[in-house]
Amino acid sequence: MDRLQTDTAHVWAVDLERETFEGHMLAETLSADEWMRADRFVFEKHRAHFVAARGYLRAILAKYMQCKPGELAFFYGEHGKPALASPWDKSQLRFNLSHSAGLALIAVSMRQEIGVDVEHLNRKVGQMKDIAKRFFAPGEYERLCALPREEQRRAFFSCWTRKEAYLKAVGTGLTHSLKNFEVSLGRKAKLLWIKEGNIEDWTLLHLEPAEGYVGSVAIAKKDVEVKIVKHLLRDLCLNKGVN
Ligand SMILES: CC(C)(COP(=O)(O)OP(=O)(O)OC[C@H]1O[C@@H](n2cnc3c(N)ncnc32)[C@H](O)[C@@H]1OP(=O)(O)O)[C@@H](O)C(=O)NCCC(=O)NCCS
Repeated sequence: MDRLQTDTAHVWAVDLERETFEGHMLAETLSADEWMRADRFVFEKHRAHFVAARGYLRAILAKYMQCKPGELAFFYGEHGKPALASPWDKSQLRFNLSHSAGLALIAVSMRQEIGVDVEHLNRKVGQMKDIAKRFFAPGEYERLCALPREEQRRAFFSCWTRKEAYLKAVGTGLTHSLKNFEVSLGRKAKLLWIKEGNIEDWTLLHLEPAEGYVGSVAIAKKDVEVKIVKHLLRDLCLNKGVN
């Protein structure tokens, strides 16, 4: 297996727009149930992004597992979080995926649960402050409102992606209340408090994977070193190691 220790995590950034053709090559590795999901998309663009993201997910995980992408099998947790199915589960490799406006982040860790989220800053949302008031913890809402107007959009999405990355690491996704924990809004990502558990047991990082995007990765272990890997198709195809 490629070098991935329990105190390190990798976040792969994949441009799904630029890589569509390559994504189609990788699409041949998708399973029948993944194709069924792909065919449910109404818009071709969304279908192509899903197919490319799954193709890359398989190619990247196969590098760590040293197998062929099409050999991998997934199972899904109670709230839909994908994980490697038997016999690949014995590796203890954990992963999570997020995509927004043509960019995918694929986060990989060893043994520790991991969650990742990315959003494009131009994403249309209704009234940001109304959403924050309804869903964020009271302290987050207050800090957002206190910011100058021009800083609010970035702070809103930084907060949102941190919260979603955390809940994706936990595995509940948005079925769990966003008010049960609080994160920072500034450039430095920080878990400020959680209702259950200990904030010291977590690593939370701010990501700016490409111009116009913000994201976050959460890992259920303290002081994990995160390496951003910009995707290179030849690395995936030649099955070179991750350095
Ligand atoms: C997980 C969730 C937060 C994703 O939000 P999003 O911003 O729309 O999408 P993202 O691109 O960031 O993430 C999607 C990926 O997260 C992963 N995912 C799905 N459910 C997940 C969960 N409960 N926990 C962690 N990751 C999850 C999948 O890999 C998914 O990619 P896929 O659609 O290609 O399979 C949201 O869908 C959610 O809260 N789901 C749980 C509740 C639910 O609706 N379940 C229905 C299925 S049982």
